[in-house]
Amino acid sequence: MGLFTKDSKTMDDLLLHTLQDIYYAENQIVKSLPKLIEKATNRDLTQGLRSHLEETKNQITRLDQTFKKLGKSPEGTRCPAMDGLIEEADNLAGDVEDKDVLDAAIIGAAQAVEHYEIARYGTVIAWAQELGHDDIVRFLTTNLNEEKAADSKLNSIALRKGVNRKAAS
Ligand SMILES: [Fe+2]
Ligand SMILES: [Fe+2]
Repeated sequence: MGLFTKDSKTMDDLLLHTLQDIYYAENQIVKSLPKLIEKATNRDLTQGLRSHLEETKNQITRLDQTFKKLGKSPEGTRCPAMDGLIEEADNLAGDVEDKDVLDAAIIGAAQAVEHYEIARYGTVIAWAQELGHDDIVRFLTTNLNEEKAADSKLNSIALRKGVNRKAAS
């Protein structure tokens, strides 16, 4: 379902639709992260991705609780944006031969996913606050903070842990 279909009549519909979008995205991430973890060689990177995979599973549980609070059953709706980001990551992982360059590529692809998640969670938190759904803001904010932390960890692996430098040399 597209964001601007006629099914989204009210702000509450829009919130629900976007939560379903995120729910789908998180589930796709759980399916696809193991492939990237397998391809990555830098130890900080594989560990970072592995721990974010576990975090992502907990995020899905928080989304389950979010739907429950809204009196809805957890359900995903296809998110072409996340499908595209994951497809790009998979293609990249298949195309880059040099292992060091591949690590840098994986970090870039993973950060694109994190930025998408940060955008989405930021939006649903603002909408939930506006609609007075304070009971779900807590769950969503925890997820948002994990995405931000994952993004800055990837940054530090690329920069301070020397992945980019190795890839460029
Ligand atoms: Fe996530
Ligand atoms: Fe994430």
